[in-house]
Amino acid sequence: MTDQVGIAIIGGTGFYKFLEDAEDVQLSTPYGEPSAPISIATVSGRRVAFLPRHGRNHDYLPSEVPYRANLWALKQLGVRQIVAFNTVGSLQPEYRKGDFVLVDQFVDRTTGRPDTFFSGDIGAHISSADPYCARLRENSAKALVGADATVHPSGTVVVIQGPRFSTRAESRWFSGQGWHLVNMTQYPEVVLARELELCYANLSYITDYDVAAAEIVGEEGAEVVTHEGVLKAFSADSERVLDIVRRLVGAMPESAECGCQAALAGART
Ligand code: ADE
Repeated sequence: MTDQVGIAIIGGTGFYKFLEDAEDVQLSTPYGEPSAPISIATVSGRRVAFLPRHGRNHDYLPSEVPYRANLWALKQLGVRQIVAFNTVGSLQPEYRKGDFVLVDQFVDRTTGRPDTFFSGDIGAHISSADPYCARLRENSAKALVGADATVHPSGTVVVIQGPRFSTRAESRWFSGQGWHLVNMTQYPEVVLARELELCYANLSYITDYDVAAAEIVGEEGAEVVTHEGVLKAFSADSERVLDIVRRLVGAMPESAECGCQAALAGART
């Protein structure tokens, strides 16, 4: 087993490789194998684990990602703090393409995804009022001051089942609710991390205006979101994104000490 690794980055669509000269660790869990071997290396002086959520070749659709195995494997490695990265569509014109968002709320519109480690006799009901680690979000926001990026300190993401993108009617509804972003993979990852009492923050990168926002900013018709468009937008900006992620890793707190480690206190049946 490798040296204990306290922090991890989970990569999203387009973000399949991060670490050079990494050691790969293949772990199995009671929930099957994670999306890919976990790579471990030293970045900005820190030992960090990297796991591409969709696999190294985009092998898993959003509803097929082995979220439980991924989180379990990271915890097994010794990880206590995770920054998860996602590509998202914007639902509001002030959340612009190319901006980053430290998401603080989600709305779950997925169906049928295994979204808990608990069952029957070993039940627990965690709070998800504030599902993301506030300490890690705040720390990440500070780390990105001075970076070449607009970083929104908060935002609500609506998580759709996919793999299809939203209809105009759905997108207008989401936008009309005041939700800021749309994505397919933020749920159940965030709540599974909480069940394992891990600190988990999300940094989302806006690749597109989802149809309702495209209508508002005048991109109607010209900019209907496609998977190819999301990948292109990400890869066109990948160096900047990687710079942002390196800054975050370098600034991650040495130890995880906040309410996340007590998420199960009072939650058990
Ligand atoms: N991921 C990136 N852009 C998206 C969009 N518009 N809808 C859902 N998921 C996305």
